[in-house]
Amino acid sequence: MKKLSEKKVFITGAASGIGRTTAIAMGKEGCRLFLTDIDGEGLERTVQVVAGAGGEVCLARAFDVGDYRAMEAFAKDVHQRYGSLDILVNVAGVALFSQIEDMRHSDWEKVIKVNLWGVIHGLECFVPQMIRAGRGGHIVSVSSTAGIIGLPWHTVYAGTKHALVGMSESLRYDLRKHNIGVSVVCPGAVNTGLVQSVQIHAEKQATDKSRKLFLKIAIAPEKVADLIIKAIRERKFMVITSFDIKLFYFVKKYCFPVYHVVMLTMTRLMDKTLKRTG
Ligand SMILES: NC(=O)c1ccc[n+]([C@@H]2O[C@H](COP(=O)([O-])OP(=O)(O)OC[C@H]3O[C@@H](n4cnc5c(N)ncnc54)[C@H](O)[C@@H]3O)[C@@H](O)[C@H]2O)c1
Repeated sequence: MKKLSEKKVFITGAASGIGRTTAIAMGKEGCRLFLTDIDGEGLERTVQVVAGAGGEVCLARAFDVGDYRAMEAFAKDVHQRYGSLDILVNVAGVALFSQIEDMRHSDWEKVIKVNLWGVIHGLECFVPQMIRAGRGGHIVSVSSTAGIIGLPWHTVYAGTKHALVGMSESLRYDLRKHNIGVSVVCPGAVNTGLVQSVQIHAEKQATDKSRKLFLKIAIAPEKVADLIIKAIRERKFMVITSFDIKLFYFVKKYCFPVYHVVMLTMTRLMDKTLKRTG
């Protein structure tokens, strides 16, 4: 999809980080934006920034993407007032790093509800209408490095993010006949609100140190927004945002024994650094 101007774009997680910068960048491209986030104040701020940069927000509403009824009601309003979407960008997400024995059932439920059900709700409420409209379009889901590599301490997060890669791959082939492109974005470290909001079941001193280390290698969310727009324009399926992760993924695919040794070492290091509190 070369021309983005006038395209109707729905972005989740638009109050912060990658969602906000994508909304700002797509607003500058002349897209007509539909935005959501659970954080109403942050969402309002994004609407102001987008408008200040000359972008158009058609509708912004705060709700929990894990709540099907809320997503369904929003989709109904969008379809009645504006017709079907051209582009859906699933960004909203939460993170939890833990050893399995320190996780309560509610921890599993929370991450799966936002990261997996949130994306499913977006897909089921908007994509059939896009197909019926017959104008083609594009779907982007923001997964993670944890969507292609089973990182230690990431069990539930990696589960949801791997699921996004799998769903995106199926949709990539199923939706081709409708001229709807699919991209799955796997960022490495990005400097966003998630760096502070990520829940880590480990000692505070150790987690503070890890956050600082993470920020040293993190890229700016604006770079991810640019790569999302490029992926839509060029119909690129998998987007890995940093060279180190590209290399890591390459080694996993083509030299598994080396990858396995690196993963064992990484696990030992993380176990030593992040001390369990449970
Ligand atoms: N920051 C990173 O290093 C990184 C790395 C890989 C993948 N990601 C992924 O990128 C995506 C965006 O995260 P970010 O880094 O911009 O973090 P962020 O915290 O800045 O943004 C996430 C947004 O999602 C919203 N959100 C959370 N729960 C929600 C819910 N139930 N309903 C609606 N909105 C909800 C938050 O309010 C927030 O505005 C996430 O899916 C995350 O997993 C981030």
